[in-house]
Amino acid sequence: MRPSSANSLAGKICLVTGAAGGIGLAAAQALASVGARLMLSDVDAARLDGVVTDFRALGLDVHGMHCDVTDPASVQALIAATLAAYDRLDCAVNNAGIETRNAKLAEHDDAEFDRAIAVNLKGAYLCMKHELKQMLAQGGGVIVNVASVAGLGGAPTLAGYAASKHGVLGLTRSAAIEYATRGIRVNAVCPSYTNTAMVQRMLADKPSLRAALVNASPMKRLGEPEEIGLAIAWLCSDESSFVNGQGLALDGGLTAW
Ligand SMILES: NC(=O)c1ccc[n+]([C@@H]2O[C@H](COP(=O)([O-])OP(=O)(O)OC[C@H]3O[C@@H](n4cnc5c(N)ncnc54)[C@H](O)[C@@H]3O)[C@@H](O)[C@H]2O)c1
Repeated sequence: MRPSSANSLAGKICLVTGAAGGIGLAAAQALASVGARLMLSDVDAARLDGVVTDFRALGLDVHGMHCDVTDPASVQALIAATLAAYDRLDCAVNNAGIETRNAKLAEHDDAEFDRAIAVNLKGAYLCMKHELKQMLAQGGGVIVNVASVAGLGGAPTLAGYAASKHGVLGLTRSAAIEYATRGIRVNAVCPSYTNTAMVQRMLADKPSLRAALVNASPMKRLGEPEEIGLAIAWLCSDESSFVNGQGLALDGGLTAW
């Protein structure tokens, strides 16, 4: 029998992108609550500074670094800053992402499509690439990408967003197989609609959506960011040591229909 690894994240160095709010912040809180040491990043430097200040006020070991995940140099600088602060990178949560406005594909805005692919898909690719280089050099690590149920199936009126998240699962599964013998696990979480600023914006854009979403859910509610953060921390931990290459639906049963 293996000894319990319930606190396997204590002292581990964990990087979270898009950590200034929502699911990224909840993941950072879940990781910190079991003793992880954090490198938090976001494109919104002011909100990130506030989060870092709050974490430090609680006595937590945390650094913050501005990063735009669409910019290769910015991503490289983030990994370099992580190593400068902590010498290694045990876990990476690639969470930074944006939504697209509701529109059927024929009415999709081209610039918005490009932006969703740049942030959600290329951003995840760039982060994974540089995280993997470090994890290979140090002999292991864990990556958790934040995809979506829109990466598991069609998402009417969100085709560009769905395409970007399907791509994130393609990256996840491919890298999981490529590095499975190198001590590296790569998984994704696939949340359904979760109560964050992103969803508040989407609901403001289309108020009738809330009732439709709640009705479609077997649990008759949206997810809460804390519920997603806890699952991300579990995937980062040794408790999930045989989970690799998965897109874990966190959806209250939505995809069980
Ligand atoms: N909220 C949901 O219902 C839901 C469902 C499924 C998946 N997701 C995914 O979860 C992730 C987090 O979303 P959220 O709901 O917390 O949204 P959010 O808007 O609350 O947070 C997203 C964060 O990403 C940051 N960000 C945006 N562009 C960035 C960039 N170029 N570089 C670095 N950071 C950037 C934002 O500043 C923000 O802090 C996203 O990838 C999103 O697609 C959300």
